[in-house]
Amino acid sequence: MTSPLAIELQTLQSAAQAAISAATDLPELERLRVHYLGKKGELSLILKGMGKLGAEERPQIGAVANEVKEALQNQLESRKQELQEAEIAARLAAETLDVTMPGVSRPQGRSHPLTQTIDRVLDIFVGLGYTVATGPQVETDYYNFEALNIPADHPARDMQDTFFLADGRLLRTHTSPVQIRYMETHQPPIRIVAPGRVYRRDTVDATHSAVFHQVELLAVDRGLKFTDLKGTLEEFVRQMFGESLPVRFRASYFPFTEPSAEVDVQWRGKWLEVMGCGMVDPNVLQSVGYDPEIYAGFAAGFGVERFAMVLHQIDDIRRLYASDLRFLRQF
Ligand code: DAH
Repeated sequence: MTSPLAIELQTLQSAAQAAISAATDLPELERLRVHYLGKKGELSLILKGMGKLGAEERPQIGAVANEVKEALQNQLESRKQELQEAEIAARLAAETLDVTMPGVSRPQGRSHPLTQTIDRVLDIFVGLGYTVATGPQVETDYYNFEALNIPADHPARDMQDTFFLADGRLLRTHTSPVQIRYMETHQPPIRIVAPGRVYRRDTVDATHSAVFHQVELLAVDRGLKFTDLKGTLEEFVRQMFGESLPVRFRASYFPFTEPSAEVDVQWRGKWLEVMGCGMVDPNVLQSVGYDPEIYAGFAAGFGVERFAMVLHQIDDIRRLYASDLRFLRQF
């Protein structure tokens, strides 16, 4: 067959066959179908020229055109099936789950020993009916000292070397200012436990850090007595150490309590000094507008690091801040 249309048809067929074989996905295959066999496709374009053919040649070309069309349709169909199967095979391969593969172990985090200690302290006091309170770490002289019965010229200010800010404020040296802030905004009876970070201009060594944590305790009500304070702290120590240990109250001095005491706990044969406490000084009650003739309060404060170090026999406070996972994973 040598008619120009027949040659065009053959050229079309071999070009289309090569393209279909080379198609790598279904959308591409569909584009090829439209391009070659669609209504405005290449084949239709060629067949438009059939009108000019003679009556003898026309059926011959028509037959060839049909063959080409059929051959391409078949090839499209089988390529489509191939691609679909390949797609399924690829998906199966990708989604195969090898249940014999070794597991991926995810490292498990845990809370820091200091956080654990604070949580335990808070749990105990919440169990005793206390509410958790907090206050700012940047304080004013008034809350950190003045309202706590520590006036500007008071020698007790020397007990707590202070970091002052340029604007006259300071980094709180203890959590006691939370007492004042809470009393200013609440009426008795109150029972609060206030954990937080405190700052002192200390030289860092095995037992001192310029930043550490305290927990403050405050109860104010009608008729509270020193025996209430003792009973509360003894119960706290019992729960904290997990057993009833000998507890000793030694007379001491704090400007914001009167009388004041330091609490020692006998643990493993040694007396450990664990906190300061006392009955809230009437001046402090007055500074927040409570009538000391009606209300009495007790307070206590202690360092969290010290408790954590005693409980876990940690020899150096700096270990608690070093973020050494070999150390921290032990808790
Ligand atoms: N604020 C004291 C300190 O940092 C600790 C303290 C002692 C707190 C006696 C109290 C208390 O509430 O009653 O050294």
